[in-house]
Amino acid sequence: MSVEKSKIRRRIEELKNLPTLPGVIQKISLMVESSSTSAEEVGKIISSDQILSAKVLRLINSAFYGFPGRISNVTHGLVLLGFNVVKGLVLSTSVFDIMLSKGMVDLWKHSLGCAMTAGAIARKLNQPEPEEVSVAALLHDFGKVVIKLEMPEESGEIEKMVREKNISMYEAETKVLDFTHAAVGSWLCEKWNLPKNLSDPITYHHQPHLARFAPRQTAMAHLSDILVRAKGFGFSGDSLVPIIDKAAWESLKITPEILEEIIGDMEESLENIDDSMFVAGNEQKPNS
Ligand SMILES: [Fe+2]
Ligand SMILES: [Fe+2]
Repeated sequence: MSVEKSKIRRRIEELKNLPTLPGVIQKISLMVESSSTSAEEVGKIISSDQILSAKVLRLINSAFYGFPGRISNVTHGLVLLGFNVVKGLVLSTSVFDIMLSKGMVDLWKHSLGCAMTAGAIARKLNQPEPEEVSVAALLHDFGKVVIKLEMPEESGEIEKMVREKNISMYEAETKVLDFTHAAVGSWLCEKWNLPKNLSDPITYHHQPHLARFAPRQTAMAHLSDILVRAKGFGFSGDSLVPIIDKAAWESLKITPEILEEIIGDMEESLENIDDSMFVAGNEQKPNS
């Protein structure tokens, strides 16, 4: 890594207004290391923060199931989804708060659309933990938020290049910064200690052939990104629809019939998204 690049990396890792792990998650991380901790105890801690638990529940129900109320308390969610998924969701709530407050609603829509679509792909292909794939897709572009907030000048240059040269954001980032939002995502996954099943799809969603630990989940996140772009739901920074990576596509063994079903599921869930999800400060009270 060049000196310049490692400097930037350090700068990113030390960011002040980045979604750092909320205190409650740090507390939980310690608890989970002890084998005697139960899901109930962890659920209780998240539930003690009303706003956080309302946001997590809302995200669980809309991103994974497309309708509210299926999971009505955090402990139930933890038992069902596992700690890593809930940890990813708690992080997502911080990331999306920033997206909404900084006028990045379209990126939030893109991310939520990808989470729903990745979930639909994972379920159709009988992936053992479809929610994990959803969470990875939910967080796949959060490096873009960091670049926009922390490097406003370069970010402006990237956006200008995308517009004027009609290239992808990924390509423009490489030209301007010599690294991409996927690399930023990868550094943050390390910092936040996210498991490989989440960090691989975040790191390699544009280069799925490089994923070593979770190639299947990565291929699913890659495909969901392209399907949501093709559908034109939200906006991820450029209007190009990339070609699906051949190896990733072949590894998933999706028949034309299954693809049609996936697209049907995607369209149905996108139509049912509650628009209030995209309004800053619009929180629901938990159902329990
Ligand atoms: Fe991306
Ligand atoms: Fe994306």
